[in-house]
Amino acid sequence: MAVPGLDELIAGGLRGRRVFVRAALNVPMADGAITDDTRIRASLPTIQKLRDAGARVVVASHLGRPKGERNPEFSLRPVAPRMAQLLATGVSFCEESTGRAPLEAIAELGEGQVILLENLRYAEGEEANDRSFARALAELADAYVNDAFGTAHRAHASTAGMAERVPRGAAGLLLESEIQHLKAVREPERPLLVLIGGAKVSDKIAVLDALAPHADVLAIGGAMAYTFLAARGQAIGNSLVEPDSFGDARRVERAAAAAGNRLLLPIDHVIAKRVSRDAETRHVEVIPDGWLGVDIGPETANRYRAEAAAAKTVFWNGPMGIFEIAPFAKGTETVALGLAESSATTVVGGGDSLAAINSLGMGSRIDHLSTGGGASLEFVQGLELPGVTALEC
Ligand code: 3PG
Repeated sequence: MAVPGLDELIAGGLRGRRVFVRAALNVPMADGAITDDTRIRASLPTIQKLRDAGARVVVASHLGRPKGERNPEFSLRPVAPRMAQLLATGVSFCEESTGRAPLEAIAELGEGQVILLENLRYAEGEEANDRSFARALAELADAYVNDAFGTAHRAHASTAGMAERVPRGAAGLLLESEIQHLKAVREPERPLLVLIGGAKVSDKIAVLDALAPHADVLAIGGAMAYTFLAARGQAIGNSLVEPDSFGDARRVERAAAAAGNRLLLPIDHVIAKRVSRDAETRHVEVIPDGWLGVDIGPETANRYRAEAAAAKTVFWNGPMGIFEIAPFAKGTETVALGLAESSATTVVGGGDSLAAINSLGMGSRIDHLSTGGGASLEFVQGLELPGVTALEC
């Protein structure tokens, strides 16, 4: 089924109309200050386009997990001035997300003006996809735009419930672009290389199960690799391991083999006795007792890099080691470099992998950096995203 785009919505006339934009402004904060404004920047093209069309733009989002309580730590207030600065126009802020206060504030907006509402998750009805909360949100809008790709895998009041209650709806530019790029992984030009890292098999088992039969090459890194290796009976010393996931790891290996795909595990490791910047490190093929794996080794990293060079499509989620600690970051860096140099279509999702790419200044050399970690993983697994389904007509 088709999802209407912004152009279609604008063609129907938006001048003076109240357009509710569900954005993903879940930005990292420290001591009340925004530490990375990537998600605010990513929301701007849609907001600007609606301003140009003369709409009165009502922007809403969640931030963190306040679980239905008004907690200043999760206030979206600091986002308004940053958005105003980036848009080079005023952005007003409303301390409520439903009811009289936003209704009156929105009524005062002129054409092309923008208001940001307080954290939607201050209301319990948001995550519960409560009908009356969805109705209250819908009362603020003549048209609805979902641009929150990062939250599109959640069926919440602002991402799903309100869509059918507003007469006109559309996907925002960010949502549309994310879907288009991630389709390249779902329907790839082959060979498809999928690199999955991170700490735990249990966190990523759904994506591993879905991609083992789909990816020509599935390359595993990060601490989850030790669970795969231990499930094969290999020595992993004191590395992080999930014995409860051995069965899952073996199933993923069998699924890849049955499909004629290659599943790659690290063949060498960087090890340390403790997770600390000043810990002594060694490079080994077999992890001895008393040591733990903290990164993939250089031979593994070069092998994964060579796979990226040979692939036509690459999807990467999750770091290859404890990359926040410089001596343990080389494997993640080498893989990032492999993607940057590859002529394949390259797509990276997930906060840690993005942080690694950005800290290396390689962002511009990747075809698509997804703003949604969980949402991108669900989409490449072939799952429907409630935030997208709700827009279908
Ligand atoms: C996000 O904004 O990053 C996603 O919605 C994930 O947040 P959640 O897991 O709290 O929904």
